Amino acid sequence: MAHRIPQSVLDDLLARVDLVELIDRRVPLRKTGRNYSACCPFHHDKTPSFTVSPDKQFYHCFGCGAGGNAISFLMDYERLEFLEAVSELAEQAGVSLPQDAAAYTPQTTHPDLYPLLAAADRFFRHQLRHHARRQTVIEYLRGRGIEGTTARDFGIGYAPPGWDNLHPALSQQGYSHQALETAGLVIARDQGNGVYDRFRDRLMFPIRDRRGRTLGFGGRALDDTPPKYLNSPETPVFHKGRQLYGVYELLRQRRNKPARLLVVEGYMDVLALAQHGIPYAVATLGTATTDEHINQLFRLSDELVFCFDGDRAGRDAAWHTLEHVLPTVRDGRRVGYLFLPEGEDPDSLVRHIGQQAFEQRVVEATPLSEYLLDQLSAQTRLNDVDGRARLLELAKPLLSKLPAGAYRDLLHQQLAERVQAPVELLNRHISPPEHQPAVRSRAPLLRRTLPRLAISLLLHQPILAHRVQHLDALKKLTVPGLPLFAELVEYLQTHPHITLGALLEHYRDTPTGHILTKLAQAGFDLNDDLAEAEFMGVLDKLQQLYLDRYWFDKAARGELDEHELHYLRTLHRPDAD
Ligand code: UTP
Ligand code: MN
Repeated sequence: MAHRIPQSVLDDLLARVDLVELIDRRVPLRKTGRNYSACCPFHHDKTPSFTVSPDKQFYHCFGCGAGGNAISFLMDYERLEFLEAVSELAEQAGVSLPQDAAAYTPQTTHPDLYPLLAAADRFFRHQLRHHARRQTVIEYLRGRGIEGTTARDFGIGYAPPGWDNLHPALSQQGYSHQALETAGLVIARDQGNGVYDRFRDRLMFPIRDRRGRTLGFGGRALDDTPPKYLNSPETPVFHKGRQLYGVYELLRQRRNKPARLLVVEGYMDVLALAQHGIPYAVATLGTATTDEHINQLFRLSDELVFCFDGDRAGRDAAWHTLEHVLPTVRDGRRVGYLFLPEGEDPDSLVRHIGQQAFEQRVVEATPLSEYLLDQLSAQTRLNDVDGRARLLELAKPLLSKLPAGAYRDLLHQQLAERVQAPVELLNRHISPPEHQPAVRSRAPLLRRTLPRLAISLLLHQPILAHRVQHLDALKKLTVPGLPLFAELVEYLQTHPHITLGALLEHYRDTPTGHILTKLAQAGFDLNDDLAEAEFMGVLDKLQQLYLDRYWFDKAARGELDEHELHYLRTLHRPDAD
């Protein structure tokens, strides 16, 4: 788990908030029988397919497959990160989060840094309008093709030359040197001789979180004096590996997920693209793409197109990204690669060829599958068997990172074509990841098996856990899905009143969690009143399976006497019934 909030705290929090109330404040709900419903806020919905269950503290859309608990709803609807959603809920419920959790929650640890950063932001923007050198700066922007409205949308400012501009101004507003230093805006002089401004004579790009709060800055030199860009250091609120530039600006202008997102490298790339009518680019801040970036990106859109320079460094970066992206490409998600001509970056290219031609290239970006197979094929000779076997070997570790689903099947198919082998052979070579994460939306439901049906029923009626006897015997059966069923039963026998929403929280972001969510959603089609009877039926069948195996194993080991053997044979004679 990436966070440190104890499960018990989350359980408690989810027990205190009411999902119906939480959703109703944002999406007005109507009572329909036991549940509430509305038109789904997550897809274009004409009839109310969105259902919220007060008993289960779980929502589900029959149309698009969205579903989850209060935390998931806030994450998806307000587009918050996990910890942001948790602290927002905590605030609403009047629950205080434990100290170590708070350390991971920006707004509770350093609340004082936000107003300070906002004040710095205002200071820089003020300078852009009033400083004696403003004309030079505006000329610079103009020279780069950025107009006033774009500069304003992105909150561009100017840090004046000289060591002592920002800090005296902010001191006057009551901010301490210590706080300024913590926020990365000033640097302490030797031997306690005060501080000096970090950013001097630079064009300033505020880096904002999705709610528009400034976390840090990037500052570009106006000439060739290195470093070209100076960025805020890591601070309690600014983490380079987590932050994306341009997200706030992108979200501000739309409620719906953009159909696709361009992922670029630089501040100026984002600005130039927006200036040219392509307002859906975000930048990693000169760092390699991290898993955290990718998770955030996919929360913003289902299709990502990564732009890379055509040079060596760009190709290396592309490959690096591929390895991080593979485990996340579930059905319904798409990843493309756009390699730019040598010497161009998105900024220069869009200025050369314009919006239309640029977007055309985006549409024609190389799909991840093609990129992957091309890269691997280039390392082998496909015209002989050895080469093709080698391709298979190279592909194995990569393809096994893909979650199960139609997308992986498709890639296997394509690989099979390249190595001229039947796809079944491939499937045998490339073992799937241990659990098969189910797809979050729009994908076919999981195939129904006994343990899965049992789990679906149990998720909707946790009280049924008490009806399970002989769990130890069942656990001995090697049937996929049964260990998870047993785990749930054991947990629910001691926690019969946990809601579905709270239970699923235990498995957030785990492969098991994906399966459980899917099974919970499948359970919405089941009739609650018949659940118990159906559950008992499933248990019976599992029990029967256990007995069959037990006797056959004994028979195979020669441990049965004449009598028993005879009995078994009559039972299993084809015409016995
Ligand atoms: P680039 O060197 O590609 O610069 O760095 P750029 O974006 O094309 O900048 P312009 O067009 O010359 O203004 C890409 C990104 O890497 C980070 C910045 O985030 C930059 O946008 N970077 C680059 C730094 O942090 N420091 C540097 O000195 C250079
Ligand atoms: Mn550039």
